[in-house]
Amino acid sequence: MHCSMNHMHCFCVLRGERSRLIRSMGLVFPVCGLTRKAEPLDHLKKMHINFLKQLESIVEESDEDAQPKPSKIQKREFTVVDPWSDSTMSNLLTKISGGLKKLTGYHKSNKIYSGKVPLTSSHNALKNKDVELGGRKYHIKGSPGTGAFAKLYKASVDGNTEEIVALKVQKPAFPWEFYMYRQLDTRISDIQRPSYGYAHEVHVFADVSVLVCNFLPYGTLLDAINSHLVVGQHMDEVLCIYYTIEMLHMLETLHSVGIIHGDFKPDNMLVCYPSEEITDDTFRSETRSGQNQGLCLIDWGRGIDVNLFPAGTEFLADCGTSGFSCIEMQEERSWTYQVDTFGLCVVAHMMLHGEEMSIAKVPGTGGSYMYQPKLSFKRYWNVALWKQLFTTLLNPGSNGNHVGDLRSLRRSFQEYMCSNYQLVVKLNQLLAKQKASLCSS
Ligand SMILES: Nc1ncnc2c1ncn2[C@@H]1O[C@H](COP(=O)(O)OP(=O)(O)OP(=O)(O)O)[C@@H](O)[C@H]1O
Ligand SMILES: [Mg+2]
Repeated sequence: MHCSMNHMHCFCVLRGERSRLIRSMGLVFPVCGLTRKAEPLDHLKKMHINFLKQLESIVEESDEDAQPKPSKIQKREFTVVDPWSDSTMSNLLTKISGGLKKLTGYHKSNKIYSGKVPLTSSHNALKNKDVELGGRKYHIKGSPGTGAFAKLYKASVDGNTEEIVALKVQKPAFPWEFYMYRQLDTRISDIQRPSYGYAHEVHVFADVSVLVCNFLPYGTLLDAINSHLVVGQHMDEVLCIYYTIEMLHMLETLHSVGIIHGDFKPDNMLVCYPSEEITDDTFRSETRSGQNQGLCLIDWGRGIDVNLFPAGTEFLADCGTSGFSCIEMQEERSWTYQVDTFGLCVVAHMMLHGEEMSIAKVPGTGGSYMYQPKLSFKRYWNVALWKQLFTTLLNPGSNGNHVGDLRSLRRSFQEYMCSNYQLVVKLNQLLAKQKASLCSS
């Protein structure tokens, strides 16, 4: 696997005792102000000898614990990759191209799109026009929203006003998102699958691609947050808890199957309204029934399939979305799942406070430090729950049980929802109110 990644933008990094020692060794000389040509002073020579003795004993000590003992110093090598660079993307697309062709719904043409109306026309020019793709006629009804990279259209299929889809038009053509949707189809259980949107097919031309997805009519979580802000309010805490449970569940499921979303923000989550009233059983059971989810995660253009990289790969890149660069990105360190869990914290913060999250680095115990949101929690909120969420996700430990952490956070929020039936009653009322206000706007 290492070999196949060599031509990608990747580096090998050595971690462990040796790098720590080299760093501490680096401190000895600059502190003494030596130039490259200077002769070591006597006391420096002594320091150097002492240093080498210390080094030897540390190596011996670490060797005693080492299991197995392949060499004197335990090495851990891992690969660091920019998952979104042009070179990585084109290498991954080459790597999956054989499989891509076999995926149901994948349609590729080497020709430029030659329909009557150019797909890259303005939204107004396309409105009420028919677009023919793969023998089906899509009647453009409007645009549910525009993204930075794509044009989105709401369309009915073959004159059937009941069958509504979202068409995502991208130039240049970008089949990656379709690949991610098909990975979700195969890796995620049927019961969890509705939380991640569906792609029916993709039409890839030489100049442009069109992804055909399920259309959801209730707007995004960002619209929901804004609907409260425009009337001078914030989302009620019960609603914030409900959506936080949804997001924790989503990430727990995704990360456990080696998928990172990579662009976890409220305009990439579509709001859904459960077909049945929510009860405390909804929060008691581990799995939900049918289409009973409250959010649907879309926009998989930055999705990362961890399985395509060597085991232990870490990523080094900035997502470039203001307010959503995780701490590791801000400090130019490598990251993996933090890109999503940090996004979750920002979304929770936006729901609670009505604004994006600023982070403070504060002293912790024993000379360590920790990260926390700068804004404090309101006294009447469930402070312990929120504190636990932000502390755990902004300060990921090295216990390797990241998915377990997400699960126990979700369970603690769910237990709280079960602790008083009035919370569930209130949640149903708030959801009905939000649905009515967003539908009439
Ligand atoms: N299936 C859908 N149903 C309803 N609305 C949708 C759907 N897909 C996308 N939208 C709307 O279109 C917007 C843009 O879509 P999407 O996020 O997929 O594109 P994008 O160009 O990658 O966006 P960005 O770069 O801003 O993240 C969404 O924020 C949402 O408002
Ligand atoms: Mg988007």
